[in-house]
Amino acid sequence: MQYGYFDDDAREYVITRPDTPYPWINYLGCEDFFGLFSNTSGGYCFYRDARMLRLTRYRYNNAPIDAGGRYFYLRDGNDSEADVWTPSWMPMKSKLDRYECRHGMGYSRISSSRNGLAFSQVSFVPLRDKCEVHRITLNNESNTDKYVDMFSFVEFCLWNANDDMTNFQRNFSIGEVEIECPPEGSSAIYHITEYRERRNHYAVWGVNAPVNGFDTDRQSFLGLYNGFDSPDAVFQGQAKDSIASGWAPIGSHYIKLKLSAGESKTYVFVLGYCENPEDQKCEAQNKINKKPARDLLEKYNTTEAADKALAELNDYWKNLLGRFTVDPFSLTRADDIKMARMAGVWNQYQCMVTFNMSRSASYFESGIGRGMGFRDSNQDLLGFVHLVPERARSRILDIAATQFPDGSAYHQYQPLTKRGNNEIGSGFNDDPLWLICGVAAYIKETGDYGILNERVPFDNNDELADTLFIHLKRSFDFTVNNKGPHGLPLIGRADWNDCLNLNCFSKTPGESFQTTANFESGVAESVLIAAIFAFVGPDYAEICRRTNREDEAEYAEYEIAKMIDAVNQHGWDGNWFLRAYDAYGKKIGSSECEDGKIFIESNGFAVMAGIGVQDGRAVTALDSVKEHLDTKYGIVLLQPAYKDYHLELGEVSSYPPGYKENAGIFCHNNPWVTIAETRLGRGTRAFETYAKICPAYREDDSDLRRMEPYVYAQMVAGKDAVRHGEAKNSWLTGTAAWTFVSISQYILGVRPVFDGLLIDPCIPSDMKGFAVTRHFRGAEYHITVENSAGVEKGVKSITVDGNPHDGNVIPVFNDGKTHKVFAVMG
Ligand code: GLC
Ligand code: GLC
Repeated sequence: MQYGYFDDDAREYVITRPDTPYPWINYLGCEDFFGLFSNTSGGYCFYRDARMLRLTRYRYNNAPIDAGGRYFYLRDGNDSEADVWTPSWMPMKSKLDRYECRHGMGYSRISSSRNGLAFSQVSFVPLRDKCEVHRITLNNESNTDKYVDMFSFVEFCLWNANDDMTNFQRNFSIGEVEIECPPEGSSAIYHITEYRERRNHYAVWGVNAPVNGFDTDRQSFLGLYNGFDSPDAVFQGQAKDSIASGWAPIGSHYIKLKLSAGESKTYVFVLGYCENPEDQKCEAQNKINKKPARDLLEKYNTTEAADKALAELNDYWKNLLGRFTVDPFSLTRADDIKMARMAGVWNQYQCMVTFNMSRSASYFESGIGRGMGFRDSNQDLLGFVHLVPERARSRILDIAATQFPDGSAYHQYQPLTKRGNNEIGSGFNDDPLWLICGVAAYIKETGDYGILNERVPFDNNDELADTLFIHLKRSFDFTVNNKGPHGLPLIGRADWNDCLNLNCFSKTPGESFQTTANFESGVAESVLIAAIFAFVGPDYAEICRRTNREDEAEYAEYEIAKMIDAVNQHGWDGNWFLRAYDAYGKKIGSSECEDGKIFIESNGFAVMAGIGVQDGRAVTALDSVKEHLDTKYGIVLLQPAYKDYHLELGEVSSYPPGYKENAGIFCHNNPWVTIAETRLGRGTRAFETYAKICPAYREDDSDLRRMEPYVYAQMVAGKDAVRHGEAKNSWLTGTAAWTFVSISQYILGVRPVFDGLLIDPCIPSDMKGFAVTRHFRGAEYHITVENSAGVEKGVKSITVDGNPHDGNVIPVFNDGKTHKVFAVMG
């Protein structure tokens, strides 16, 4: 069953009933102020860091789910019969005559009505400002006058979201607010907890109208034993004008309005983050300096101003998404529209979100645990770099600064301080290679070799700074210098698979599987890291050659060849690639094993790197993947699932069979198989693996899948699980970047390379063609691919602007013009 539909022209997903199988959310904000916003107005917002600077409170793991958000309560009528309801359905689960939520690019719109009173809310974070804007319109669609009480509601978080949920002995005493609700003009509630001491920032919750009252103390507004679904103030039709002092500060405006038949009124609410310079913190003793808040509220104090900001946001996204589009009219198979809307819109949108959030704040990541991941952020770049290359550039420099002089790296860093995270530390031996992967993608996209000369600290220490090129060299050398008995890379605490913890023998419940690595065996090796090395290594060699480092290029090629030899000798199991060797030198991912005989990652990546392509083992490996790991909903990570906990394997065997790394469909690595299949020219199979995990293809299966049909999820339960096909952990996953790479660069085959744009499609034979627009290094490429021959791979001829073109790399034009590329497959 479906709970909505794609409105492709508007670039919106339209949810048509509020009781979706899980909250279906959107992200507001593009750069540093962000809001998570569900289809029933749940969620929270923060500035830059979801742990340290959280504006509003949110309860994960609550019953009911998704409690807390920016709520508006309506009380229709001015007597005891008045009808109280919440137009976003939650928190009252009000019966609505009409409901619709449109999640668009950086904004969401909820419209509903009940008894002739229509409500609409548009919520977004304007470009450049640190706030959420909520434009609320009430419309009397009945033919009699209506008297309506409207109450806004947000609950403030005391900034540090972790402390906010744990340190109650302090927190119940520190909450403070200020109020500014004059008879004319805007009204504002200020959340100023801790401003009196070390903070120089506060939150403002304002509306561009005078109010009839307010509340800032949760208990006064709700009643101590009431939930969000039955606030006393609303049911009584009277705000309490409460001033929070300790306990739980909230912000609620109370507005009484009369709407004649047919009349509508619009209000602009703003929830913002404001900062003052240290020496201008206060207007008077213990009175915050309100200037930045007043400026912000003034900026959005009319409907026109809010609409203008929304229009600007729309232009911003239209422009960004114009950088890669798939022309829906060029498609030859009915279902391909699903691919086009994902590749052209939603997949790229999700890539922006993963670039911004890494794995910090979603409905599955609480925003307090994890910073920016070294490995994750480098991979997120792959799907983002074509959108805003300048931001990718500065991200690369931030990430590289957390690398250690020996090439290893902090596994995570905090977005606020950009410092490596000591709690997690280092020792994930795949990390260094992802830096090469990210930088190569950046250079191929932009041609900016200058980035290699940027001086970047090691370990955030300026005295240890060297060029970015040297960082890449240290990355490369780290793998070369850290090999085990078979000449394969040592795995350390884990490689890409965080749960393959071969040097952590954990018996103590609650211990972290990754950070309590209790010995370094010097034995456990990863075939996956070897394959990643063989995949990114050639880009490193090429970068060396193109920057006149011929000796280094030759050294790199020598080391890559050696690594491939090691994989050939010790990484092949007969019908597929092995996964690893454990601390005792025993095979993992081998037919000799009882469980975990075959893994997806090493097979996908080895073939991506071209290992075994010439001698046919690549075909054998991918056929084995299909035979043993494939399911209706995607390819599972391993088989058979581990039935028991294995001390020597770690977290992978801790999950019940079918979930997460223990044989779940861990979507992130499915596109590796897709790309590998294109390497073998098997377009039909490549597309099949793409479509299986693509959410738009499972839209009418939403009751089982449960997650948003417009974004990828990290995991779909595998065939060993009870609810095979159920997705979890939507939004923040490397799946976004890798699927975008797989569809845009390898299936449709429009791939940035060092010298230009390569046209190398690998598609199903019944796909008769397609057209793509790609913005690339200062020009626009309109690419049409024609496949009347019905092949899966191979370009027979190409014309550029009508002239025959040799080979399939289209040059860099950089002339601000549009160029027409016409490719015929055959
Ligand atoms: C999570 C992590 C990622 C890791 C993957 C597999 O998605 O964010 O870094 O590679 O799990 O364990
Ligand atoms: C758990 C998850 C894995 C994730 C890791 C991050 O191990 O299973 O997916 O990468 O946590 O800490």
